[in-house]
Amino acid sequence: MVKMQSFILLEGYQMDNLIKIAPSILAADLGNLSLEAKRAEDAGADMLHLDIMDGHFVPNISFGPMVVEAIKKVVSIPLDVHLMLTHPHKYIDNFINAGADYLTVHAEADHNLKETIQTIQAKGVKSGPVLNPDKGIELIKEVLPFSDMVLIMSVFPGFGGQKFITDVLRKVKELKQIKEDQKFTYLVEIDGGINEDTVKEAIIAGIDVAVAGTALYHRKDMKEAIKKMRCG
Ligand code: DX5
Ligand code: ZN
Repeated sequence: MVKMQSFILLEGYQMDNLIKIAPSILAADLGNLSLEAKRAEDAGADMLHLDIMDGHFVPNISFGPMVVEAIKKVVSIPLDVHLMLTHPHKYIDNFINAGADYLTVHAEADHNLKETIQTIQAKGVKSGPVLNPDKGIELIKEVLPFSDMVLIMSVFPGFGGQKFITDVLRKVKELKQIKEDQKFTYLVEIDGGINEDTVKEAIIAGIDVAVAGTALYHRKDMKEAIKKMRCG
């Protein structure tokens, strides 16, 4: 397949590769989970974002590994599992066995970040840190050289449908610069309040992956919404 070489995105801005889109199933009709997972895949999603909340690290409870396993059976796109757990290291095997392809863990959680990420990677699954909007990248500097993905939260985690916090784009730019300077290989992902407008700023700042729940699942035509979002 011929890869699109160059792409005019916004006036005066050019990029060589399109960003990846990861619909967040938290915003789906949860009574029809397998159909909703399939809907994202059929609409052209690059991966599916699954939010795991323990009611402790964040003030909400979502779903666990059994649901991840059920979704794994119906789609073939990678599962991007975002762990919002106080003790993420205790559940690594559960989510890997359930079929996670990416397993990201919060830097603010109660664990040894480096050890958790490297343990996940040693089991053949991609991993990296997640950073809340009010935390600086010094918290994750140590793990950047070997991370596969760095997730920058653009809302405080726990709920879908919140307003995008523009200020976090400073961290995206900084991460992109570090990646270029140091020749690191992580993808920069943004999560929270992403829609067709906010994604533009995020693309300019340098994201590789955009997570979007409400702005994709609450649309009738997800394919069209993904297409628009990918192109800024
Ligand atoms: C927030 C979750 C997000 C959320 C995004 O805690 O990590 O993935 O589902 O939802 P929207 O796109 O609606 O902000
Ligand atoms: Zn998420």
